[in-house]
Amino acid sequence: MIFLSACSSSEAPIVELMLDEDQVIAIYQRVDSMSMADLQTDSGSMELATWLFSESCGSCHQADAKGRKGVPDLTDQYWLFEGTEAAIAHTITSGRSGVMPEFGRDIGEVELGLLVTYVESLAASEELNSNETAGKVIYEEFCVACHAIDGTGIANLGPNLTDEHWQWGGNMITIRQSITAGRKAECPAQEDVLSLQQIQLLTAYTLNLSAAGS
Ligand code: HEC
Ligand code: HEC
Repeated sequence: MIFLSACSSSEAPIVELMLDEDQVIAIYQRVDSMSMADLQTDSGSMELATWLFSESCGSCHQADAKGRKGVPDLTDQYWLFEGTEAAIAHTITSGRSGVMPEFGRDIGEVELGLLVTYVESLAASEELNSNETAGKVIYEEFCVACHAIDGTGIANLGPNLTDEHWQWGGNMITIRQSITAGRKAECPAQEDVLSLQQIQLLTAYTLNLSAAGS
């Protein structure tokens, strides 16, 4: 089925497509004339999108879209970028890449320890102890340009560090690794892989995922 070409991975759980080829063709033909809201509630379209997601996105985001370390959960309300139709369609079409620079050489061992305690404290809204206060000074020197002065992040530059939600992990060890070695994450562009109709279907499907999640 040439219409369905998409990169698959042997790791991804297989979702079986129960639609026949004529039904699939009919869906692709009607996508352009449908609004996003109509697509989101059209059962045939969403069945096809579930399958497309498992084929094209499931190897990283998992078939249930809950992600894994380094790959965001698409069923929750936390967004690295935005959860709007336009931002999601842009992510799928053009891809996204996030780079956290490595600071292993710039920040000494003692300062690093203080900084990690401060970053850990950002998620708890308690008063800072003396180590955390010392860590805040280091944070203000190296981190505010992307994560903002209060740690709530800057769209497209650096994620929020003050919520309970972590892409890489919020314990002492993973925070330390994020800072010393940096992090890189990429969502691949699909514009040369998927058709416009397939991208529309996946945008509708992704909007549904977060609407259903919590
Ligand atoms: C090679 C692994 C990989 C594949 C395949 C992949 N993604 Fe991603 N995706 C990622 C990573 C990693 C990120 C986070 C990028 C970052 O940190 O800047 C991401 C981010 C996203 C986001 C933004 C989430 C947010 O919180 O703002 C959306 C939406 C998304 N992907 C949808 C998809 C869809 C739909 C597909 C299938 C067409 C797909 N991705 C395929 C790895 C992947
Ligand atoms: C140039 C911008 C930039 C600077 C400066 C920067 N970061 Fe980041 N940081 C990022 C980006 C982008 C990510 C997300 C990487 C990804 O997509 O996986 C990130 C991720 C992180 C994470 C992982 C978050 C998670 O959810 O697991 C931590 C922790 C972190 N940064 C802390 C810091 C600290 C502390 C500093 C200062 C020493 C700092 N960052 C400086 C851009 C930056």
